[in-house]
Amino acid sequence: MSDLKRYQMVIDGKWVDSSSGKTFESVNPFTAKPWAIIPMGNKEDVNAAVDAAWRAGRHGSQWRAMTPSARGALIRRLGDGLMAASDELAVTEVIDNGKLIAEMSVQCKYLTQWYYYFGGLADKVEGSVIPIDKPDTFNYTVWEPIGVVACIVPWNSPLLLLAWKLAPALAAGNTVVIKPSEYTSASTLEFMKIVEEAGFPPGVVNVVTGFGGDTGAPLVEHPKVSKVAFTGSDTTGANIYQAAAKHMKHVTMELGGKSPNIVFDDADMENAVKGVVSGIFAASGQTCIAGSRLLVQKSIHDVFVEKLVELAATAKLGDPMSTETQVGPVTNVPQYNKILEYIDLGKNEGAKVILGGGKAEGPECGEGWFVQPTIFTEVDNSMRIAQEEIFGPILAIIPFKDEEDAIEIANDIVYGLAAGVWTQDIRRAMFMASRLEAGTIWINTYRAVSYMSPFGGYKRSGLGRESGQEMIKEYLQQKCVWISTATEVPNPFILR
Ligand code: NAI
Ligand code: MG
Repeated sequence: MSDLKRYQMVIDGKWVDSSSGKTFESVNPFTAKPWAIIPMGNKEDVNAAVDAAWRAGRHGSQWRAMTPSARGALIRRLGDGLMAASDELAVTEVIDNGKLIAEMSVQCKYLTQWYYYFGGLADKVEGSVIPIDKPDTFNYTVWEPIGVVACIVPWNSPLLLLAWKLAPALAAGNTVVIKPSEYTSASTLEFMKIVEEAGFPPGVVNVVTGFGGDTGAPLVEHPKVSKVAFTGSDTTGANIYQAAAKHMKHVTMELGGKSPNIVFDDADMENAVKGVVSGIFAASGQTCIAGSRLLVQKSIHDVFVEKLVELAATAKLGDPMSTETQVGPVTNVPQYNKILEYIDLGKNEGAKVILGGGKAEGPECGEGWFVQPTIFTEVDNSMRIAQEEIFGPILAIIPFKDEEDAIEIANDIVYGLAAGVWTQDIRRAMFMASRLEAGTIWINTYRAVSYMSPFGGYKRSGLGRESGQEMIKEYLQQKCVWISTATEVPNPFILR
């Protein structure tokens, strides 16, 4: 008997294995050893989950019959359950993902706020009465759920990125099929115990685990799925968008970036150094919002870079389960190899390594997949290490002359997720905020997100927004009802 933890997935309120009986292993990135067994879902499982979700969302179902207030209360109860289990969930994320316990013990509590916020919003979505330009006519609008929503989640922050999709999808009255990443499915399956305890009707929330091609693709293609909410790479996002087009599905896409962190010579230097370090080295750089391009004004380039290296060099690598650790392992082997390849590429492109520059090995790193926090100078914005999302602890430093030059470099990229600006000049801050092509602009801060504030990309970084009041509409469709109050229907042969 293997001592690996065995998980099942949830279809129609039941804990099940894959219909094929096949499984795959999930690996702990610090020990490099498998620790859990996950069902390997396939098209048949996807069909069963979508059918269950579709039935659960039909008129006459228990879910559909709930008032928005009752639905909201249920979603808030899920938030309570999550809060109670947050420490255990944090540990699962650390084991499966290599994320730091220091970060996860905070994140797993904070993500409950999405369930409270959208639970509270469930009964505040109001239609309107239109003062229509026809006599004897009453015209009103209502917002209705879209139907079955597929939530396709990546591995970098599994439960947080799930909350961003699931909380508004449920608040809007939809039913859901979740497809977690094949690298980090365990926390979502743990989470389903809390969904079950909260008392959601069967079929409202389903999970199918497995690989992108075998489970993700049939889920996206299923004609009864009406919306796909996706976070991940832009390449996969583009494939999903194309597949969704065949059935005219709604989509929201959050697709990462290559965000510029821009430091002007009037910035508070100590604060800017801290912001730049956390922007790129937090979560080992495996975040969509990583500030992976540092634009530094030429007049302060050398002193700033020196201070930056000084702080970055103190980053403590090690066991993610230790609260002392500041940089953990990379989550999976393909990603580890990809990061190391980009480091070689940067060297070959002529950029200069001034910190790190390879794999990190040592007793503190266990058997884990660690990459040294790495800083390149002498980067030109046209280099691939400046243009492509690496998703690792690799910073590319590009000098600039003045505001116009900074804007030109910052915007000269296909992405537009976020941008940071470090300056003490309010005019400059607001000018930069207005000219940068990105969905989020941070002035004298970096990496701040909230359930209240809309988040999403310009350009190839995505479509639609997550979080904030307005975005619940991304999970709703509008219906317009016309009622004639005339006593007589007019002559059909006389056009009005
Ligand atoms: P991915 O974008 O391929 O996978 C994300 C999710 O989509 C996973 O659940 C996956 O199983 C699913 N998926 C894959 N192919 C699919 C398909 N054809 N139809 C439906 N679902 C599908 O990302 P992956 O392979 O985990 O990482 C590759 C690269 O993507 C990373 O090296 C990184 O650069 C980038 N990435 C960016 C993220 C971001 O938030 N910006 C998050 C994760 C990865
Ligand atoms: Mg894993």
